[in-house]
Amino acid sequence: MTKLVEREDGRPTVVLGVTGCIAAYKACELVRLLQKADVRVKVVMTEHATHFVDPLTFRALTHEEVAVGLFDDPWDPIHHISLAQEADVFCIAPCTGNVLAKLACGIADDLLTTAALAVTSPLVIAPAMNVHMYEHPATQGNLDVLAARGACIVSADEGYLACGDVGRGRLAEPAVIAEAVLGALRARDARPRDLEGVRVLVTAGPTVEPIDPVRFVSNRSSGKMGYALARAAQQRGAAVTLVSGPVALERPQGVSFRGVGSACDMLGACEELFPAADIAVFAAAVADYRPEHAAPRKLKKGRADDDLECIRLVPNPDILATMAARKSSGQTVIGFAAETEDVVPNAREKLARKGADMIVANQVGEGLVFGADTDKAYLVTSSSVEELPEMAKDDLAHAILDAAVALRA
Ligand code: C5P
Repeated sequence: MTKLVEREDGRPTVVLGVTGCIAAYKACELVRLLQKADVRVKVVMTEHATHFVDPLTFRALTHEEVAVGLFDDPWDPIHHISLAQEADVFCIAPCTGNVLAKLACGIADDLLTTAALAVTSPLVIAPAMNVHMYEHPATQGNLDVLAARGACIVSADEGYLACGDVGRGRLAEPAVIAEAVLGALRARDARPRDLEGVRVLVTAGPTVEPIDPVRFVSNRSSGKMGYALARAAQQRGAAVTLVSGPVALERPQGVSFRGVGSACDMLGACEELFPAADIAVFAAAVADYRPEHAAPRKLKKGRADDDLECIRLVPNPDILATMAARKSSGQTVIGFAAETEDVVPNAREKLARKGADMIVANQVGEGLVFGADTDKAYLVTSSSVEELPEMAKDDLAHAILDAAVALRA
């Protein structure tokens, strides 16, 4: 999302959402701490929050208008979008169980939750509520959903609660929340916006090759690497399209998504999308073979003409090689290689055979790589081999994009 609202003085903007909870007064201290770190703070309050702290307090502290209602600003009829665009980090502190649940479900029924749904910048959430509400499986499930989606959760502290109970649920110390917000700002600034205007296509996950309507042939790919690449490219300003086989991951925000099943489906999507891509990264673990015939009805065990014991497989199209053969001069094509031995020589051979500009090669087997959050890889081009240390897939994604940017230079 390009910024519509320019920063006035070069300071980053944190949009701080305050919700209706007794800890709302602690958000005043958080504003102060962020301001001391040279951050501009804009406050959005839920209607309930205004019963605990008057908007005037935040207005006086921030020297900014304090937004509450969706239609409060006559000059800005789509205020929720401009707020979302202004945010370099969007922080909600304190966040009630109710607002947490709305965020987890994508409910947008007031200015704060509507802006939160529109935001593409990092989201920091500091929950605060009664211990039983906090420990309720619904709340814990909502926290898990939001964390899996990439939100930074600043867990509640244990201690004496306003309601008289003792336990977990107290808002984390403002200094701890401020540090999480500043950390998110630092992480954002550490990444270059060097893919602004660049179109990136990523394939991810396994493919599933039907035997009949209920059975299929597939592999153990988690899709984590491809999803990390899509997120990383989006963070660096690219227009990203993710073509994904079935995985148990949250769709990255701000990324155009195409879900596919079989290798032939994935090939069809790539044939359509590849011509418009500047960089294409083929991270999917495409099934090498598919059943020659996918039965239109469920095959019966032990029935002679439903031969489940012998399924004839035929090779799938090689999507990477097919697209690389159609590559025009402005396009950069990157493939992956998972090898159990001779990693670099095999990657070099694959680079030439498939016509890619770079192969990301890694050693697999014995729990390595598939499904893991870290990876150790070599970046192999026709003129170089770069050995990378083991790192998080998010970091590897950025290293791959650094190399892609260098290839295009
Ligand atoms: O041949 P191999 O499966 O080792 O090649 C891996 C690379 O080729 C990956 O980038 C993968 O996405 C791509 N590939 C493909 N279509 C296939 C097989 C692999 O795009 N049928």
